[in-house]
Amino acid sequence: MGKLRLAVLASGRGSNLQAIIDAIAAGELAAEIAVVISDKEDARALERARRHRIPHCFLDPKEHPGPGAYDRALVALWREYRVDLVALAGFMRLLGAEAVRAYRNRILNIHPSLLPAFPGLNAQAQAVAYGVRYSGCTVHFVDEGMDTGPIILQAVVPVRQDDDPETLAARILEEEHRLYPRAIQLFAEGRLEVVGRRVRIKDK
Ligand code: GAR
Repeated sequence: MGKLRLAVLASGRGSNLQAIIDAIAAGELAAEIAVVISDKEDARALERARRHRIPHCFLDPKEHPGPGAYDRALVALWREYRVDLVALAGFMRLLGAEAVRAYRNRILNIHPSLLPAFPGLNAQAQAVAYGVRYSGCTVHFVDEGMDTGPIILQAVVPVRQDDDPETLAARILEEEHRLYPRAIQLFAEGRLEVVGRRVRIKDK
């Protein structure tokens, strides 16, 4: 098999996309980004892809109305670019069942909390408001639920007394940038086995 072909989906800043680009350049991740896709025309992630000469496209939700239409358009793009693995990196749309089914156990997401705590939006603000002492980030396979799929890796980050959502988010983000490339590399090495809702990491 050739190099793992990735699609990275991002709605905004794209710092996790950048971490993946950097890990590939550093030889820490044996993959190539086949395409970057965004649902936001002005996403900085698209700008980063352009700068690194990575194929990229804005897939406009308005042009794909109706149930399942956006998902079908996504899957068509993944097939067109012969994508082996999809990495959601700050992609702020919930994938529908059609996309999940078409790429079962081949879609990853990174979420800025220790799931199953604080799923959904503004996870870092939820953690601060709840008063937990530790939060972190989670890379998981995507299933039909919201942030519910089998967990691959997690990293723990302490919450400080004087944290606000922004300071906590920044501390978590540093760990995200380490964790996501590692999880993708495990997938690339064929070392992830999904057993029920658990993921077994096979030895090398
Ligand atoms: C990251 O913190 C990511 O974990 C989070 O959005 C941010 C995207 O940053 N994702 C979610 O909250 C998904 N529910 P980035 O665009 O700089 O990678």
